[in-house]
Amino acid sequence: MQDVTDLTFMQVIHRRGDPDLYFTEYFRVHRDSKLDKPILRSIDENPTGRPIIAQMIGVDIPSLVRSAKELEKHPIAAVDLNLGCPAPIVCSKNAGGGLLRNPAQIDEILKALRDAIAGRFTVKTRIGFDHPGEFERLLEVFARHPIDALTVHGRTVRELYRSEVHLPEIRQAVEAMPCPVIANGNVLSTRLARETAGQTGAAGLMIGRGAIRNPWIFRQLREEAAGQTPFAPTLRDILAYVEELFEAMHQPGGTERGHIARMKKFLNFIGQGIGENDAFLQAVRRAETYPAFWAICREHLDVPGDFPPEPARRALIDDRSERLAAAGS
Ligand SMILES: Cc1cc2nc3c(=O)[nH]c(=O)nc-3n(C[C@H](O)[C@H](O)[C@H](O)COP(=O)(O)O)c2cc1C
Repeated sequence: MQDVTDLTFMQVIHRRGDPDLYFTEYFRVHRDSKLDKPILRSIDENPTGRPIIAQMIGVDIPSLVRSAKELEKHPIAAVDLNLGCPAPIVCSKNAGGGLLRNPAQIDEILKALRDAIAGRFTVKTRIGFDHPGEFERLLEVFARHPIDALTVHGRTVRELYRSEVHLPEIRQAVEAMPCPVIANGNVLSTRLARETAGQTGAAGLMIGRGAIRNPWIFRQLREEAAGQTPFAPTLRDILAYVEELFEAMHQPGGTERGHIARMKKFLNFIGQGIGENDAFLQAVRRAETYPAFWAICREHLDVPGDFPPEPARRALIDDRSERLAAAGS
């Protein structure tokens, strides 16, 4: 996830139990683009011991082919193409989710990339631009090319991050595609993971915001699959997680305001469901100094109590996290 799941965040997750595989933030690809150095570091210095897939976003075929070939010189498990980003600036250039309006162009891009990439090539998509009815035609295009996996975020581009996830369309992809399909969208807990896997038949799950909110989610899923009682974090575990992020997000020479603003990107997700009517989140969003920030964290997190396994429904569709995501990805 843009500006979130960088090398530093991967380290924070790694200490709590890795996913089976990571995806990078996307590399922006256009005629003059060079591979972004900080994102490359998350590949070259990947501290997790798990495979990492390099994601690209773009529309210009020669540039995508050039970048894919450059990426293949690094230790990646696959090259992935983003066909889901709903940010207006991306869609207006017909990249990311914007490409879903043009299946013929996707067809050309997939053909060129499949021919160019020697290793694995995967695609991440939404289920349409305006309407889920577009998905059937898109799946025909995807199925025409021997891609190695398809990740489906079960929403249209128009639906951003807000709507229910369309699980039947993910199942439709599982049935139509010859390759493994990975289901994505609102997997925030082991319960929702079971529901998503059960209703879609997907070969795997991609977890985004749920891993920011609850970085133990991969460990919990593994423990549950092994028949063990999953680890249940307490509010004090969340405080320790916030403290670790705070250290990790400190930039030498940066300002107090900037540091706190960076923390709020994470707290918008972590804070969901803590306190009555998200009292912690409401309060911490107003903090502008270190003393105010830590006083609020201590008041809400340095107390006995469990971290709620899932936020309330209302918090899931939080406007602020949607704006953040639309701007970033
Ligand atoms: C802040 C933010 C940044 C994101 N950046 C990316 C990205 O770079 N590439 C991508 O494929 N998806 C990106 N996404 C979308 C997520 O990967 C995911 O598809 C979406 O949030 C739904 O899944 P979730 O409910 O598990 O988060 C981003 C989402 C958020 C909230």
